[in-house]
Amino acid sequence: MKIIGLSGSAAPKSSTKKLIEAALEAAMEKGADVEFINIAKLNIKGCLGCTECKKDQTTFCCQKDDMAGLYTKLNEADVILLGSPVYFGDITGQSKCFVDRMYAYLGPAGSRLKKGKKAAAIITQGFTDETHYPIAAEHLTKGFESCGADVLSPEFFGGLHNADEVTDAQLARAKAFGEKLTE
Ligand SMILES: Cc1cc2nc3c(=O)[nH]c(=O)nc-3n(C[C@H](O)[C@H](O)[C@H](O)COP(=O)(O)O)c2cc1C
Repeated sequence: MKIIGLSGSAAPKSSTKKLIEAALEAAMEKGADVEFINIAKLNIKGCLGCTECKKDQTTFCCQKDDMAGLYTKLNEADVILLGSPVYFGDITGQSKCFVDRMYAYLGPAGSRLKKGKKAAAIITQGFTDETHYPIAAEHLTKGFESCGADVLSPEFFGGLHNADEVTDAQLARAKAFGEKLTE
């Protein structure tokens, strides 16, 4: 099983990265092949809305930025774990550019996303109420959901401003989440 973890935080000491890596490590211990990619540090531009990707079933996105290399890689993975901090009540701008570019998986004859793929979200936030931003998780996995992936129940981690603030209990929860992804 291949699991790819994607982070939408560009912060140098990112809590999101730390939690995703903990989840991936736990999944690896369960036998999964894992990979971490920081999408916030890649060159992924917003969707141009040109609908070039709807021309025929083999044409993807006309933009030749770092997303071009991700379409095949993500399609080969069984599980995609997406993480984003909450920025003003929603996912980061970098995460949103990535989600919008998922539109290219939707060809004129239907989704080109491999069947049976699972997607899951980790949301980090400063606010301690972890029930406050369900919309951020929905938006983070919306692209995969629209392309036919099975979206698992998200995990929220509150009271965070950087990686040093991640508590042992939160790390344990991220690890349990990672183990669940292998089931
Ligand atoms: C621009 C910006 C906007 C933010 N907006 C919110 C917010 O609306 N609600 C919240 O709870 N936290 C907010 N935060 C805090 C982050 O969500 C939180 O610190 C998160 O854990 C950062 O993740 P990172 O360490 O991976 O970058 C904001 C932080 C930044 C930099």
